[in-house]
Amino acid sequence: MATDVHRPVTPNAPNTPTTHATSAVRVEGLTRSFDGRAVIDQLDLDVKPGEFVALLGRSGCGKSTLLRILAGLDRDIEGTVLVPRRKAVAFQAPRLMPWKRVWRNVLLGLKGKPERGVAERALEEVGLKHRTNAWPKTLSGGEAQRASLARALVREPDLLLLDEPFGALDALTRIKAQRLVDELWQRRGCAVLLVTHDVEEAVLLADRVLVMDEGVIAYETEIDLDRPRGISDPRFAELRAELLKRLGVDAPDAAEAEPVAAA
Ligand SMILES: Nc1ncnc2c1ncn2[C@@H]1O[C@H](COP(=O)(O)OP(=O)(O)OP(=O)(O)O)[C@@H](O)[C@H]1O
Ligand SMILES: [Mg+2]
Repeated sequence: MATDVHRPVTPNAPNTPTTHATSAVRVEGLTRSFDGRAVIDQLDLDVKPGEFVALLGRSGCGKSTLLRILAGLDRDIEGTVLVPRRKAVAFQAPRLMPWKRVWRNVLLGLKGKPERGVAERALEEVGLKHRTNAWPKTLSGGEAQRASLARALVREPDLLLLDEPFGALDALTRIKAQRLVDELWQRRGCAVLLVTHDVEEAVLLADRVLVMDEGVIAYETEIDLDRPRGISDPRFAELRAELLKRLGVDAPDAAEAEPVAAA
């Protein structure tokens, strides 16, 4: 297949095309096919530096495929993809190596010989410094997910790609993990692309929410709510209802308003 253009687009990076300096991600005419079927079909996408974007879409619509392409894990594509050189990805499953202690997992794949202190600082940032020396199998689901986030953070990414990172967590741990990601994003100032199935999570965290369908970004909306956000805000409910509609799910109110057939 044709063009695969992964280039740095951070403002300070050498050889940055000046026309793209205002984007952390620029995707133009991206197509990815499996067995002759285009899962991603002429997709365009821009993410600004420091922007938090959430990506929704029905199962199998191509969200993970897009994320993998942005992460540089899949280059069998057509079109143009511009992403920062410094990027990191965290998946739904933390993917820790069971035979390496937590701090070694955090440093896994980093170039050079990074010191343990680098891992410790990242683990401290995610509230996991006390488990620095632990084996992955002794971590809870939430702790393992935080270790995975620490592994992403040590890369000092300009772009953080998150593929349903909270999907396997219980409700309370999930709320804590969402807050953590919100804090880290505000502190680090990197662009974030979060794939999620949870509309509330998207509205709670993102500057902009995208809905993917038929291989393209079929709908997008800015989230014009002040932070910190609360689900009791009437505007929150409006945005949630609109996004659910775009996902083909009727909000409960609308369903209740349907005329009931006479017996
Ligand atoms: N390596 C592959 N070989 C063949 N088909 C694939 C491959 N990877 C993905 N697909 C197909 O591409 C489509 C999109 O998959 P993808 O994993 O991107 O969906 P998704 O939107 O992330 O779904 P989910 O919400 O369930 O995670 C699916 O139909 C999937 O079967
Ligand atoms: Mg997926």
